[in-house]
Amino acid sequence: MIDTICNRTYIYNICWEDPAVDHQILKITPDDVIFRICSAGDIVLDYAIEGPSKIVICDMNQHQLWLFELKIRMLRDQNLTYEEWWSIWGSSDVSVAMKVWNRMRHTMSAGGRKWWDGRIDRVFRQGFGTTGSTGFCAKFLIPFLMYSVGFNLKEWAEKGFSHDYIQGNYHLIERSAWWMRRLFPRIIAPFAGVPPNQIGPEFYTVEFYETILKEIFMDPEFGSSNYFYRFYLDKGYKDQSCCPRTLMEEHFDALRENAGCFEWHHSTVQEVMERVKPHSFTKLVLLDHMDWMPNSMVHDEWIALQRATVPGAKILWRSAFTHMGDKPFFNNLDIDDLSPQWYSKDRVKMYPGTFLSYMPRDPFPFLDPEPSPCQVASFATKINTTTKMILHPLTAGRVSAHGDKMSSFYATQAKGYDAVRENMLVSRPEMMSAFGPIRQGHTWLDIGGGTGRNLHYLRAQLNHFNTIIVLDICPELLEIGQDSARKSFTPEQCGRIRWVCLDVNDPNVKKELAKISGNGIERGFDTITFSYSLSMIPEWEKALYSAKSLMSEEGRVLVADFDTYTERGNSLKDWMIRTWYRQDGVRIEAKSREMILSEVFAGDNYTNTVVRMQKKLAGVRIPHYVTCCRKGTITMPNGFRRPSVPDLSKFAALAVEEEKKQD
Ligand SMILES: C[S@@+](CC[C@H](N)C(=O)[O-])C[C@H]1O[C@@H](n2cnc3c(N)ncnc32)[C@H](O)[C@@H]1O
Repeated sequence: MIDTICNRTYIYNICWEDPAVDHQILKITPDDVIFRICSAGDIVLDYAIEGPSKIVICDMNQHQLWLFELKIRMLRDQNLTYEEWWSIWGSSDVSVAMKVWNRMRHTMSAGGRKWWDGRIDRVFRQGFGTTGSTGFCAKFLIPFLMYSVGFNLKEWAEKGFSHDYIQGNYHLIERSAWWMRRLFPRIIAPFAGVPPNQIGPEFYTVEFYETILKEIFMDPEFGSSNYFYRFYLDKGYKDQSCCPRTLMEEHFDALRENAGCFEWHHSTVQEVMERVKPHSFTKLVLLDHMDWMPNSMVHDEWIALQRATVPGAKILWRSAFTHMGDKPFFNNLDIDDLSPQWYSKDRVKMYPGTFLSYMPRDPFPFLDPEPSPCQVASFATKINTTTKMILHPLTAGRVSAHGDKMSSFYATQAKGYDAVRENMLVSRPEMMSAFGPIRQGHTWLDIGGGTGRNLHYLRAQLNHFNTIIVLDICPELLEIGQDSARKSFTPEQCGRIRWVCLDVNDPNVKKELAKISGNGIERGFDTITFSYSLSMIPEWEKALYSAKSLMSEEGRVLVADFDTYTERGNSLKDWMIRTWYRQDGVRIEAKSREMILSEVFAGDNYTNTVVRMQKKLAGVRIPHYVTCCRKGTITMPNGFRRPSVPDLSKFAALAVEEEKKQD
């Protein structure tokens, strides 16, 4: 439905964010080079009043850009007067719109001119406020809804949309919420540009709508300052007392003076980021578009964003959700959740989530999409490995030591392991997506790392690492791993990797790691991963506590593994998957997730996220989870990161040194 609308016209005739909030957060200066998704283009015009050096905008909907182009070409018309500007965009005066259009239409792009030629008269004749799919809603659906619930629009308008009217008729809010619950998710949402994946379970409760409607309409300032909703209720702006800054006379000169600062692209955000010069942008506003995208797309886009921005660039975005934990990539960022502070002040109240981040200097993990040589195996090897895996419970000899069990399971499968497991251990890329920015000298411990498959995801960045340790109890897998590393990586990169055959719960594990990594063990590891190994380690809680004790002061522990279908893992399907996987020594239980999040890494020192997903294997949905538990860090406005909790022992050491000096 949204695609159909986008192919015909624009969705938004005005932007659905509050620019006053943006200004408070962004604090635009003349040095800024800003990027923003266009939408209706009125907020970027609002930014221009502050006189930044440049504003680059993009939109995937060409019609949104043509709407913006119409405004900016009008502003660039030497003869445009403030009265004309107001008459067109404030009171939708068709004769003025046509007069100005005839004066400046030759300055439009060919596509924009053709599109507006066919509709400019109609748009301003019918009222600009009723155009686009949001305007359509405002013209037909909303009045119908308001009429049905008993709003006396005329009376309310006569009272200047005062909140007294609403206070005296509170039942109207309750009734509207009841109707919104029924109409919004399926009927209104597409017109408002809200796709199904932004509609969470809360959209199916009346309380959700009642809270929002109350916050908007019970605001004592509603009638005098909320020009967003008044635009739709009045079908335009009545006068300068309640309208955007871009239509106020006092800002008209600044607006025209800065009308030359724009560059616009009909493309995705990622395309723009890949097109511009590196380190172009200082401030970016991404709206809510990342809600629409899967984790892998968000990840790729941020790789491009990092290239195109200065370290420490301010990035502001909004979301239909109040946290960003459902996409592993966001663990690479130190995100300030500004929603508690700003949602109450946002007059539109469209997005419960408002988030700010500074672009870190250290590069994000770049996940190599190419299969590595170790994943390539002949069809016969794949069939052979799969058969051995399936028949293992019948063919396995009796061994009791855990290490022997692992070897007896993997030895015959080692050669085809990577090729077959690629489609089975599918949340590994999601886990690697949460790896964290990779600093020069980064250290990584991959526990139960097997063939070191995870290393191949970061092929392009291995030079940044100081030490990578792949620790596994199974020598056969490690051997294959070393072999494929030799084929894929440079000798120098191979020199940074240590392959350690040891039980993670061996009492000497720390001593061994210390031997291998020199004094690095005291510093700890920046990233520690368990991909599908936790479920195979008998004393898994102990392994988690060891990992916790091995984290650096900015460290993180990532776990990807098989999950239960239900939250508590107590359904019939859970029993079936648990029984099937148990034959191969894999333990699937909800307790693992709970233990990681609520016990081992509980407390204020850790930021924890969990993502649960189901992916198909041979037509059957298999549940997986990825957890990321990380120590708090802060990205500073210059892009450097530091631990958020100061290490007091360091301060104490400094104080002692200082004292010695004074003595
Ligand atoms: C399913 S494989 C996953 C391998 C690798 N992480 C991957 O993603 O491809 C599980 C690995 O855990 C290792 N493992 C099991 N118990 C272990 C233990 N106690 N200490 C070290 N490694 C262990 C196994 O040998 C095996 O390589």
